[in-house]
Amino acid sequence: MKHTRALYPGSFDPITNGHIYIAERAAAVFDELEVSVLINPQKQSTFTTEERCEMAKEALAHLPNVTVNHFGGLLVDYMKQQKFRVIIRGLRAMSDFEYEFQTALMNRQLSPDIETFFIVTEARYSYISSNAVRDIYRFGAVVPGMVPPIVERKLREKFHRSE
Ligand code: PNS
Repeated sequence: MKHTRALYPGSFDPITNGHIYIAERAAAVFDELEVSVLINPQKQSTFTTEERCEMAKEALAHLPNVTVNHFGGLLVDYMKQQKFRVIIRGLRAMSDFEYEFQTALMNRQLSPDIETFFIVTEARYSYISSNAVRDIYRFGAVVPGMVPPIVERKLREKFHRSE
């Protein structure tokens, strides 16, 4: 029997309940899943790579076949280096599709051995994004059920809210 491994890359700035749900579904299908946090020197992130990894590790600790790592440079190069063939990406709405379609084709052009698998989320997660979550906490609002407790704590710390 084949041992199947997949990589779920992203910015995870921060990881949300929507990401966790995608990781849970991928982890139920593949033997091994690596959630890999992008180190992107071009893009200013709210949380450092270490913080993003730490939050993801804690939020995914209930999944024994999931590990958290980080990568820089081209995704396909990292995948070749680590011997991954499958990329997992979540789809929330049609608006995600254009970017994901283009990226999947680009990655396939760069490395034809690599396959992108999409997991369509559920309606209850379809409106959650890291961007929206950051704004909500930055401006002092709280919406339950969007992020795991570790992320909620870190967001409050980051934006200096004590309650
Ligand atoms: O969570 P995000 O920001 O939607 O994730 C995007 C990510 C990290 C998957 C994508 O930006 C990526 O793979 N970046 C690495 C650079 C790369 O390989 N680019 C070529 C693909 S067009």
